[in-house]
Amino acid sequence: ATVPVVVAIDGPAGSGKSSVSRATARALGFAYLDTGASYRALAWNLLDKRVDPSVPDAVVASLGDFDFAIGTDPDAYFVRVGATDVTEAIREPRVTGAVSAVARIPEVRSWLTERFRSIMRDTAFDGIVAEGRDITTVVAPDAPVRILLTADEEARMARRSKELTGESAAAVGEALRTRDQADSRVVDFMKAADGVTTVDSTHLDFEQTVSAVVGVVNDRVARTNETTPRH
Ligand code: CDP
Ligand code: CDP
Repeated sequence: ATVPVVVAIDGPAGSGKSSVSRATARALGFAYLDTGASYRALAWNLLDKRVDPSVPDAVVASLGDFDFAIGTDPDAYFVRVGATDVTEAIREPRVTGAVSAVARIPEVRSWLTERFRSIMRDTAFDGIVAEGRDITTVVAPDAPVRILLTADEEARMARRSKELTGESAAAVGEALRTRDQADSRVVDFMKAADGVTTVDSTHLDFEQTVSAVVGVVNDRVARTNETTPRH
């Protein structure tokens, strides 16, 4: 079997990572891995089991029977913990509020990173688009395609506000800023690492952003094929 092409995409909240990565995967016939959803599933599990997310030892102990599954077919996305479908529940504000504390625990990061790597390695698709905060730098630093998806803070807030149901735009903006600050103390996703291509979506609509990302993928894959000697 051939090695799947890994497309690594990082960026802050509201930059368009999830929606753009999924559409890119669909366009290329690749799988899609939402790593943030996995961190969220762990946070959901802790809240469900009444484990305090801010107590690292308790969180690490919970990994022993943390049974989660994530769909990587872009047309059949789901997140499950045990037998419970948590696809919607992991987006609740209480989960969003707990996730950064969980994500800053090194044992949690290495445990999930191993899971992500095996999902990428074992995919039945020709490639996989994996998105998060540390995919280009930690999870898949050797990926042939690495992209930092950015957008001005104002644009990111506006996008998130549009998705609102109950909460006020100001509250969501504040929560987003606080979470990005907490997360960026753990991994740097605000500037591109060496060899990472930046796609700034501030002035691009959704379709234009997908085209830009697909363009980078095609360009990088073509170059990789040119420079890799054939045996
Ligand atoms: O979609 P949104 O940008 O709101 O967040 P997400 O991608 O679902 O990620 C949720 C949380 O998981 C982030 O706030 C980070 O704390 C954490 N995360 C991480 O630490 N590393 C990743 N590779 C992905 C997510
Ligand atoms: O995963 P992340 O938090 O980075 O962003 P997302 O949840 O994929 O995108 C947030 C919202 O921005 C979605 O409703 C997208 O459709 C929208 N979006 C946009 O309006 N323009 C873009 N260029 C990219 C995304």
